[in-house]
Amino acid sequence: MKKVLITYASLTGNTQFIANEIHDELVKNEELEIAINPISNFKNGVGLDKFDYIIIGASTWGDGDVPPGTEDIFTSINNSNTNLSKVYISYFGLGDKKYKEFNTAVQYLKEIFSIKLGANKIGNILLLDGYPNSENISLAVDWASESIAKLNK
Ligand SMILES: Cc1cc2nc3c(=O)[nH]c(=O)nc-3n(C[C@H](O)[C@H](O)[C@H](O)COP(=O)(O)O)c2cc1C
Repeated sequence: MKKVLITYASLTGNTQFIANEIHDELVKNEELEIAINPISNFKNGVGLDKFDYIIIGASTWGDGDVPPGTEDIFTSINNSNTNLSKVYISYFGLGDKKYKEFNTAVQYLKEIFSIKLGANKIGNILLLDGYPNSENISLAVDWASESIAKLNK
């Protein structure tokens, strides 16, 4: 059984909603043991290295920032000694193309989790434009299924 974490940073619930949809799809796969938790549960990165695979999503706010209230948690993870070199990871973001800094929070996540802590990125980064409508839900669910399929290759 592969241990999978779906985690997210969300202010108004859109990213959380997409994370739940991904969860509801992946949970059908009996080879996976799936947890879903907000990133705020992983202060200083504690516990992240127990997973084989992490799917992480964040929305972008302000001038291309992570959701208000989650800055400190990401800083604490970035400044930790957590070693994710045995962990695989995929990233998704929610943003809105009408903003200049479209979906940039995800790049920051990649810098922390893959560049700093060493998690191995699988698949492309999914950048969703807009809200959890049916099109974005199916994009996210398909993307997660494809990403996880790459894990076994
Ligand atoms: C005040 C405000 C600022 C925003 N700034 C950005 C931004 O800089 N870049 C972007 O791509 N999206 C931006 N967005 C869009 C949000 O990322 C989008 O609404 C997202 O679905 C929110 O997800 P959440 O509910 O998970 O936080 C902004 C939205 C608001 C209301």
